[in-house]
Amino acid sequence: MSMPVGYQKYLDFFEKALNEACGSMRFTPAILTESMRYSLQSGGKRLRPVLFLAMLNACGCDYEKEAALAVALESVHTYSLVHDDLPAMDNDDFRRGKPSSHKKFGEAHAILAGDALLSYAFDLLLNEAARGEQYRRAAKILSEASGVDGMISGQSYDISYTGKSLGKEELLTVYQRKTGALIAAGMKMACAIAQKNENIAAEYGENLGILFQLTDDFIDEYGESGEAGKTLGKDKRADKLTCIKVFGLEGAEALADEYAEKCRVSLKGFEGDASFFTQLVDCVRDRTN
Ligand code: IPE
Ligand code: IPE
Ligand code: MG
Ligand code: MG
Ligand code: MG
Repeated sequence: MSMPVGYQKYLDFFEKALNEACGSMRFTPAILTESMRYSLQSGGKRLRPVLFLAMLNACGCDYEKEAALAVALESVHTYSLVHDDLPAMDNDDFRRGKPSSHKKFGEAHAILAGDALLSYAFDLLLNEAARGEQYRRAAKILSEASGVDGMISGQSYDISYTGKSLGKEELLTVYQRKTGALIAAGMKMACAIAQKNENIAAEYGENLGILFQLTDDFIDEYGESGEAGKTLGKDKRADKLTCIKVFGLEGAEALADEYAEKCRVSLKGFEGDASFFTQLVDCVRDRTN
């Protein structure tokens, strides 16, 4: 993905915070620490924590004070990828340019690594919750977005809809929940801390999440696997409900343009400088990884 101005600054800050967090893990047996680090420290675009940090900055907060929440957010996302790749789910052997967790550690320990990443995230959230009401609200936002009204619900719909012929409404439900919820969550958490712009972040985040999953489906069908770091062409083989299956390539491209525009419109009325988020729309629309 090409990056808007500032992305690298948040990325560098985040990678340092993540490396520190991973360095201080002492979970036993050692395979738990090793498997958590393996999936966390394996690159990835870090979009969700970057959005969180950029939103804090745009709302006038000191993002450097919120490293723990950024790590919690990426930890939830990473757990979702570890479980998404399991043989019982998408059965993917390759993730972030390396063997998936279950290929490296075995299926039982990949399940446990995912569980551990989720619990670890909530431990971080609870530590921060002691800082005050805004932080309790931020924790609640992430809990809702990861759970049965968010990502888990989306993954369940994704599995239930596989192999079926369904339409736009079902497709958008899957997208909004499995992907949109966590992408919106970081920005909403930042706004909860800043106590401003939360509705705008929610709307922008939901639209960006849908755009992100539209382009994830494009990459699966038409992308370069070396660049994407995962096995491609799997959605069609598994008969997943994708935008290409529902609309064909041309219709899906038009829908992506529509959602890119919706993202830009959602930013109207933003209190502060929203230019990072405006630039990001084109980067997500045109991304190849
Ligand atoms: C992959 O997410 C899963 C989806 C929600 C489409 P990313 O494409 O953000 O994966 P990483 O974090 O960069 O590896
Ligand atoms: C994954 O969607 C969404 C989550 C992990 C919650 P996909 O199954 O399309 O993601 P990739 O293509 O494996 O990264
Ligand atoms: Mg999946
Ligand atoms: Mg998958
Ligand atoms: Mg995909």
